[in-house]
Amino acid sequence: MPQAIHLVSPNFADIFEPNVEIGKFPDGDSHVRIPLINECKGQEVIVFHRLYPKQNTSLVSLLLILDSLRDIGAQKITVVAPYLPYSRQDKKKLNGEVASAFVVCNLLARAGCDKLVVFDCHFLKKEGPAKFGELQIENISMGRELAAYAMKESFGGEACEVISPDMGANYLVTDHGGKSYSKVRKEYEGGKIHYRDVGEMSGDFDVSGKNVLILDDMISTGGTMIRALEKLTEAGAKKICCAATHGLFLYNCIDKIRKLTDCVYSTDTIQNPHSAVSIAEKLVAITEQNLKLF
Ligand code: R5P
Repeated sequence: MPQAIHLVSPNFADIFEPNVEIGKFPDGDSHVRIPLINECKGQEVIVFHRLYPKQNTSLVSLLLILDSLRDIGAQKITVVAPYLPYSRQDKKKLNGEVASAFVVCNLLARAGCDKLVVFDCHFLKKEGPAKFGELQIENISMGRELAAYAMKESFGGEACEVISPDMGANYLVTDHGGKSYSKVRKEYEGGKIHYRDVGEMSGDFDVSGKNVLILDDMISTGGTMIRALEKLTEAGAKKICCAATHGLFLYNCIDKIRKLTDCVYSTDTIQNPHSAVSIAEKLVAITEQNLKLF
């Protein structure tokens, strides 16, 4: 099988050599140039492009790339975007609210994306292939890699419980017994930022005197992780670590998290100072298997 053509966005430069140019016009509009565009005619193409931070402009850049590929007649287009923005808005809570997760997925499918490869996508809640809206998705999990890192680097080989802070992330901890807190969010508060604070969190398991790793798909405002860490501390856990696939670490929540835990880290789906586990090996392995997954 011939190797697919890899198009790499500048925002993936930490893992692969970029070969797509993305910039701006003076008014802020996105400018995209794909020097390899003619070679993509009739070929399978994999586009490596992060969609966070700057999710709105990154999405537009991706739509421009997809349209050009479809226009030139690329055969099968796969997009690797490790963190999918808007993935948490997959339901309508308020009257008239937009379920933006569907809109984003449908836009990508209609622009020509045949498959989207993501890591621990919020609305999927399991590994493997899935269809969401009109888009075919492959969800790759970093749960095992994050747990292995903690066991080696943080707990020095000592036993630890691996627990998720809510049921949505339960699939990340099934290899370790599948213990999860049950979390309820409060209603939306008014104001410009739409956010539902963490309400009740409860769990029917004993962590007293035990090492614990709390594992989630993402740390965004940190509200979920902070509540879970408080619960573990109250319950008398010995050493506590926390990790997530996607580390957004908004509102400086890292400072609060650090006060409650011995270690905190994420993968580099979103590059940040706490990304200790890389997705690079997984991506290289997948692409070297000549697109088995794609
Ligand atoms: C939610 O259900 C997810 O699994 C995460 O727990 C959540 O998105 C984290 O958000 P935050 O850090 O704002 O609590």
